[in-house]
Amino acid sequence: MERTLVILKPGTLQRGLVGEVISRFEKRGLKLVAMKMKQLDQPILDEHYAHLKDKPFFQWLCDGMMAAPVILCCWEGFEAVRVVRAMAGSTNARNAAPGTIRGDYSLSAQENIVHTSDSVENAKIELDRFFSPEDYCDYPSPLNASLYAPDEK
Ligand code: TYD
Repeated sequence: MERTLVILKPGTLQRGLVGEVISRFEKRGLKLVAMKMKQLDQPILDEHYAHLKDKPFFQWLCDGMMAAPVILCCWEGFEAVRVVRAMAGSTNARNAAPGTIRGDYSLSAQENIVHTSDSVENAKIELDRFFSPEDYCDYPSPLNASLYAPDEK
C-alpha cells in the first residue's frame, strides 16, 4: 500500500475544520498510520517549499504556514498519493471543483486548507521530513476485504 503526507494548514486548525477534513479521508477508506500537531519554522519550510523559493508569494506562504500549528498526517491506501491529491483539488481553491476539499472550504490559492504530496517519490521524501520510523503505527484493518479487490494492494 502507498503512503502519502497530508498537512492540515494553520487556517484549517484555526477555522475548526480539522475533524471535517480528516473525516473525508477516513470515509474514503484511507488508513491513518501517523499523525501529529507541530509548529513549523522557517528552516523546515525552506526545505519543504524549496521549489517555490523564487516565487513572489514565498514568504507569505511561509508566514501563513507558521501562523499556528499544523496537523501532519500519513494516510495509507491503494494509490493513495493520487487519490488524496485528487481529493484536495486544484491549488488555487477558486478553480477547485466543488466536492474537493479546497473546492468546498476555501477561496484562496494560499490559504487552501491542505498540503498533499504530488508524487510517490516526493511523498517518501516529505514523510521522512516530518515523521520518524517510530511515529508510524501498524494496526489491523479488518475492513480491507470490504474496501479492496484482492489485487488492489
Ligand atoms: P504548489 O506546490 O504549487 O501546490 P500544491 O499545494 O497544490 O501542491 O504550491 C504550494 C503552496 O504554495 C500552495 O498550496 C499555496 C502556495 N501558492 C500560492 O500561495 N500561490 C500560488 O500561486 C501557488 C501556485 C501556490
